[in-house]
Amino acid sequence: MTATLEAAAPNPAGEIPSFTVTLRVRRFNPEVSDEATWQDFTVEAHGTDRILDALHKIKWDEDGSLTFRRSCAHGVCGSDAMRINGRNRLACKTLLKDVNPDKPITVEPIKGLPVVKDLVVDMEPFFASYREIMPFLITSGNEPSKERYQSPEDRAKFDDTTKCILCAACTSSCPVFWTDGQYFGPAAIVNAHRFIFDSRDEGGSQRLEILNDKEGVWRCRTTFNCTEACPRGIEVTKAIQEVKRAMITRAF
Ligand code: SF4
Ligand code: F3S
Ligand code: FES
Repeated sequence: MTATLEAAAPNPAGEIPSFTVTLRVRRFNPEVSDEATWQDFTVEAHGTDRILDALHKIKWDEDGSLTFRRSCAHGVCGSDAMRINGRNRLACKTLLKDVNPDKPITVEPIKGLPVVKDLVVDMEPFFASYREIMPFLITSGNEPSKERYQSPEDRAKFDDTTKCILCAACTSSCPVFWTDGQYFGPAAIVNAHRFIFDSRDEGGSQRLEILNDKEGVWRCRTTFNCTEACPRGIEVTKAIQEVKRAMITRAF
């Protein structure tokens, strides 16, 4: 049976009928071949199932060697970003019925990072950039006896960028990052933004200097892929523009 959106909707009795859907998964196992191949899996699904549920069914019932990362299954840990029908998404936040299940749904690893096996990429280059921007509060003493106060207005300046879950959907959708993987990438800049605009932090100048590098913010071409890819709805490109502006206004 071919899946249709109608088939995914509850019937008049309120039951959610099942339907079949095909996942076309990019497979890669360096112990078997240097080449990646596509493999189709057909699974029984319900309208409320997500890509992650379908991948679980494949792994548990059909092919235990299928390899992918996931942990929370609820959009919090950021470990299951993948390319679904050519677009970066979290598998646990993507309903099958929302990605045209009438046709085989392609599932591939995110781009620009080395593939380790199947849908798993080596995240180390991504986290290396993250570590470089010093993603922690920097102060020079003056420890308060209770807490470091901050007005709601000052907190609001970086509220959006606190939502990052480090899934890499933004960085791995950026064409500049694809070219050579040297660009810091939008995720690192988002996390720098989170501290640069924090009124309690004193490391803003250092971070701006780091991002003023030839592989830093100036490589961004305002393509907006990152903003479209972010599963947390962060205005990534806007944050990058704010960091660029801070560099200019803070005498960089
Ligand atoms: Fe993921 Fe969004 Fe953070 Fe990028 S900014 S790593 S897309 S949560
Ligand atoms: Fe890349 Fe986003 Fe800039 S996709 S070019 S970092 S706006
Ligand atoms: Fe944690 Fe999807 S499994 S975000």
